[in-house]
Amino acid sequence: MEKSDALQELEKEIMENKNLPLQKSNLVFGEGNINADIMFIGEAPGYYEDQLKRPFVGRSGKLLDKLIASVGWKREDVYITNIVKRRPPENRDPSPEEIETYKPYLTRQIEIINPKVIATLGRFSMNYFLPVAKITRDQGKVFRLGKRLLVPLFHPAAALRSTETLTAFEQSFKKLPRVIQEYEKLMSVGVFTHTQEKTSEETIKQQNLL
Ligand code: URA
Repeated sequence: MEKSDALQELEKEIMENKNLPLQKSNLVFGEGNINADIMFIGEAPGYYEDQLKRPFVGRSGKLLDKLIASVGWKREDVYITNIVKRRPPENRDPSPEEIETYKPYLTRQIEIINPKVIATLGRFSMNYFLPVAKITRDQGKVFRLGKRLLVPLFHPAAALRSTETLTAFEQSFKKLPRVIQEYEKLMSVGVFTHTQEKTSEETIKQQNLL
C-alpha cells in the first residue's frame, strides 16, 4: 500500500474508534512530509491545535517553526505529530491511559512514515520511548532505538518559559541535521541496541552517540 493510503486508512480508523479517550476534542492526526527523514513527536494538541486540527500551530508551534527554519529546513520537509491525538481538557497532562490507548496508532504511524530520526518534544514523549530517561539530563543526546535514532528535546512550551531551557533547546536542535547526515555511521557505532522494554537507567547513561 502507498504510504499516503496507509496514513489515510490509519486516520480513518482513529476517527471511527469511539472507544478512544478525549472524544470531545478534534482529531489532530499529524502532518508534513510523509517521506521525511525526521519526525517530531509532541505530547498532545492544545487549544489552537484542536481548533485547526493541526499539530503545533500555537505559541509552541511558532517556536518550533523558527527552529526548523534556523537549521535551513521548511516545516513541510518534516513530519509532526503527537503521542495523544486529541486535546486533553484544560491542557492538562495526558494520562498514562490516554497515552497507552493511542499507542498502537502512533506505532503504526511511525512504521508508515519510517523516519531515520525521531525528535521527541518534552518529557512525556521522551518517556514514551525511554521510560527511565530524564529530560534535563538526557535532552540533546542521541540514542539508538531499533532501526532509528532518537533525540529527546525539551518541549517548546518549556523553552518559552525559561531562557536557560531555550538556549539548551536551540543548541540541541542544531544537532539534528548532523544526526540525519551521520545516520549510517551513528547506527553502526558499537553500542548495544536496545528496545523499549529493555531500556534501563544504565543503558540510558551509556547510550549518547554524538
Ligand atoms: N504541544 C504539544 O505537545 N503538541 C502540540 O501539538 C501543541 C502543543
